[in-house]
Amino acid sequence: MAIFTLRTTLIATIFALSTAASSAVTLDDVVDDDGIPQLPENFRSWEFLGAFSGLAADKNGSHEMHTVYASPGTVEYYQQNNAYPDAAVLVKEVLETDTENLTTGRISYATKTKGWFVWIKDSKGRFPESKLWGDGWGWAFYAAGDKPKLQTTDYKTDCLGCHVPAKDTDYSYVRGYPVLEIEPMSGGQNKSADNKEASESPRE
Ligand code: HEC
Repeated sequence: MAIFTLRTTLIATIFALSTAASSAVTLDDVVDDDGIPQLPENFRSWEFLGAFSGLAADKNGSHEMHTVYASPGTVEYYQQNNAYPDAAVLVKEVLETDTENLTTGRISYATKTKGWFVWIKDSKGRFPESKLWGDGWGWAFYAAGDKPKLQTTDYKTDCLGCHVPAKDTDYSYVRGYPVLEIEPMSGGQNKSADNKEASESPRE
């Protein structure tokens, strides 16, 4: 009887642990044995940070939409610490668009995926030899196709230059993510405007 109870407890514990683990993203889930950042399968169900719309002069609308997601827990951590947590994973999905006159006006909306930019926060310099890691991040771009295809060979030439303008905010274009600093229920009031201490932070 005692053994039976112990076994039941163990099974229940293991089950509880494995369900808890399934919602958290670990580095092993997103980095392979060679240290290559992988494209996470379920990122669309993660936290939504924001969207960028690239305008096309000839279409009177957007020619591209960029939607950015972060692994669970990133938003809350950022709101509290004004920084991304170590091992946070960000995915920027690049999509084609259509533009139409809808009842709301002339509207562009996302359609087919072109590719994915994957970013993994690395505060510890885990892969000093890798050309896909450095400046606090793991960097990779996957082109869409039959199978996502890694296109990045060296983040310094493939990525970094374009992110230098956002260096003060850890190379991230946080200006497009009101969720990281604005509490919508307070009427869109900017937290850092109320809080003088926060204005010392790199985001200002
Ligand atoms: C041509 C310039 C350019 C290149 C090259 C580029 N990026 Fe970006 N990236 C941007 C800009 C600008 C944004 C934000 C606005 C947008 O998406 O248009 C951005 C946004 C991102 C985001 C969303 C998170 C954030 O706030 O920055 C990720 C993730 C990202 N890039 C990863 C990468 C990776 C990985 C590479 C290299 C494989 C790369 N980028 C190469 C310009 C670039």
